[in-house]
Amino acid sequence: MRILVLHGPNLNLLGTREPEVYGRLTLAEIETEVRRAAAAAGAEVRFAQSNHEGTLIDMLQEARPWADAVVFNPGAYTHTSVALRDAIAAVGIPTVEVHLSNIHAREPFRRHSLTGEVAAGVVSGFGLHSYLLGLDAALALARQRQAAR
Ligand code: DQA
Repeated sequence: MRILVLHGPNLNLLGTREPEVYGRLTLAEIETEVRRAAAAAGAEVRFAQSNHEGTLIDMLQEARPWADAVVFNPGAYTHTSVALRDAIAAVGIPTVEVHLSNIHAREPFRRHSLTGEVAAGVVSGFGLHSYLLGLDAALALARQRQAAR
């Protein structure tokens, strides 16, 4: 089972970026924990981060031939990007949207997720555990998909 874990804009700054909101773990530390959990489940994970909307779209499209599921934190593009929403829908790989913070407990503009509307589900508010729960959900979706083939 192969899972793409994709991080959007500003997530490369985790650790120092508004730690009161996003915690003190760096992106590398989050990835270490996700890799560990994936290995325990016998799955392979590949990680990618970009600050650019078009690059994130390219990465989703390029995952089509190999990824069984995607864990995606689109960052602020969650709330603005019709293009990323369309990419998730077009590519058709089961996608779990994750957020470190609880987007429903913050500013009103964060409460709506364009990308979440086409994701299989959304995990929000649990810091590192959003990624670990998201990975679990992605593995379940990947297994269902394989069983249906
Ligand atoms: C975020 C939430 C978004 O609203 C914000 O723009 C981010 C991070 C999160 O993980 O909590 O960049 O996706």
